[in-house]
Amino acid sequence: MSHDITERPVSRIAVLASGGGSNLQSLLDHLAGPARDAAAVVWVGSNRAEAGALSRAQSAGIATGVVHDPTDGEALVAQLAAVNADMVVLAGYLKLVPLAVVRAFHGRMLNVHPSLLPAFGGPGMYGHRVHEAVLAHGARVSGVTVHFVDEAFDRGAIAAQWPVRVFADDTADAIAARVLRAEHQLLPRAVEALARGQLWLAADGRAAGDVALPDLPSITV
Ligand code: GRF
Repeated sequence: MSHDITERPVSRIAVLASGGGSNLQSLLDHLAGPARDAAAVVWVGSNRAEAGALSRAQSAGIATGVVHDPTDGEALVAQLAAVNADMVVLAGYLKLVPLAVVRAFHGRMLNVHPSLLPAFGGPGMYGHRVHEAVLAHGARVSGVTVHFVDEAFDRGAIAAQWPVRVFADDTADAIAARVLRAEHQLLPRAVEALARGQLWLAADGRAAGDVALPDLPSITV
């Protein structure tokens, strides 16, 4: 695959989400602005028919679907092929991605996790549980990680990270809100970098290239 950004067509992104979709929204907003020539979201799927992410996609005129059996890799591969997706973004998707999908999108699937992996990641470490663990361990810094997806939860190659301060009087909710704001900044830029060939999964299994973060504020409040 060429890394020459002049040869690359607009990437067709499929998003999987389980929740309210604020990460999806930040991605849509970014792709409507500075990254409009790099990629477009063509389909949003959820394991929950009532997920706010599906409503947000529908409001944006984007095709949606319910993933009735998240373990059915063949069905999900077929759905992604039907929309000609060439990249998958997990934006708060709480199900393990089947191996068939991981293999079909090797180096083309990103996940956002609300901690600085490998800390506070892995099975069962999602949403509020992450921030409660950060608090329980007395960590002074948390943050957000965007990583390539492999067959295990939160274990793929790290593509981008951004730190977030943790204050002595923080509650898990306060940490969650601060980290979520960082997610909204980092995920779209990492997706854009992958779409533009500025970030890729190298043969040694590590992420290569870089994600342009010059305009990111330090998230301290
Ligand atoms: C958030 O808890 C975020 O930390 C994690 O999954 C959830 C997604 O929230 N990545 P939203 O559905 O994107 O608002």
